[in-house]
Amino acid sequence: MTEPKRILVTGGAGFIASHVADQLVAAGHDVAVVDNLSMGKREYVPAAAQFYPYDIKSPETAELIRGWRPQVIVHHAAQMSVQVSVQDPIFDARENILGSLNLLQAAAEAKVEKVIFASTGGAIYGDDAPLPARETDRARPEAPYGIAKLAVEHYLHFYQREHGIIPIALRYANVYGPRQNGMGEAGVVAIFIDKFLAGQQPRINGDGLQTRDFVFVGDIVAANLLALTYPQAGTFNIGTGQETDILTVYLKLQELMGSPLGPVHGPAKPGEQRRSVLDSTLARTELGWQPRVSLAQGLAQTAAAFREAAGR
Ligand SMILES: NC(=O)c1ccc[n+]([C@@H]2O[C@H](COP(=O)([O-])OP(=O)(O)OC[C@H]3O[C@@H](n4cnc5c(N)ncnc54)[C@H](O)[C@@H]3O)[C@@H](O)[C@H]2O)c1
Repeated sequence: MTEPKRILVTGGAGFIASHVADQLVAAGHDVAVVDNLSMGKREYVPAAAQFYPYDIKSPETAELIRGWRPQVIVHHAAQMSVQVSVQDPIFDARENILGSLNLLQAAAEAKVEKVIFASTGGAIYGDDAPLPARETDRARPEAPYGIAKLAVEHYLHFYQREHGIIPIALRYANVYGPRQNGMGEAGVVAIFIDKFLAGQQPRINGDGLQTRDFVFVGDIVAANLLALTYPQAGTFNIGTGQETDILTVYLKLQELMGSPLGPVHGPAKPGEQRRSVLDSTLARTELGWQPRVSLAQGLAQTAAAFREAAGR
């Protein structure tokens, strides 16, 4: 076990970071969560963590950082919809760039040692990147969401040079698992399961042969814990390296949910990326990370957790 640290988790009432916060608490760290509950749920915050219902853009958050002086900030709070970022790039930049800068500026004043940042691997390389994408491939994000994530990665390097904060950017593939929100446009696993639970017909956009790299949230948590003890700066893809098409996910979930509703196709989404998959060799060699949960296991766990949450 590593020495206990004071760790601020932003977005810790949300899907991914609530699981990260759970494991940080379990490992004996002193954890505080900042989340404005725009998407997250209070009950996902671990009971042993201090909770602050603040916006990351607010003076209260900056004040908390200056006063409590966390050693590490695990930064996951974000507006995480690519579609919203395309419709309202200014809103996206306020949340994802200025919100992050508010944290980083206070972090510099509080002499924070390290920031672990939830970046994106699915939306940062651009549609014509070679596959599987590697960290050394040129980042050319198509949407403001990816542009903002890349900008924050650059700011992290500025804060390293200027203030000595160690930056670790984890570029996640398509994360799925318990607590994911199925109400939005992202998170196809959660969206399909919610529909199956409600007895409604899920709709596949287009032919369903578009692919993604689906990584289970438990594996994402493991990457965060490894990043905590990694002594240097780094940018790491966190994905399985396996491409799975949406139709395959549908059929697996239909079976797991015992649903009679076969696949139904709607119109393809204009501009939707056709294929996405990450090469995570660097995370394996540097962090010692590798995905441990297969898609079959992860989908089964997710389906069971959604069922339980719905009381079925
Ligand atoms: N889910 C994925 O597949 C995926 C992939 C790549 C990167 N990411 C990144 O991982 C992080 C977590 O994503 P998630 O899927 O858990 O989403 P989520 O929406 O469940 O979690 C984000 C949390 O941040 C909070 N939040 C949003 N804006 C805030 C603000 N201004 N101030 C304070 N809190 C705020 C929300 O209430 C929510 O609880 C995000 O940064 C996202 O961009 C997610």
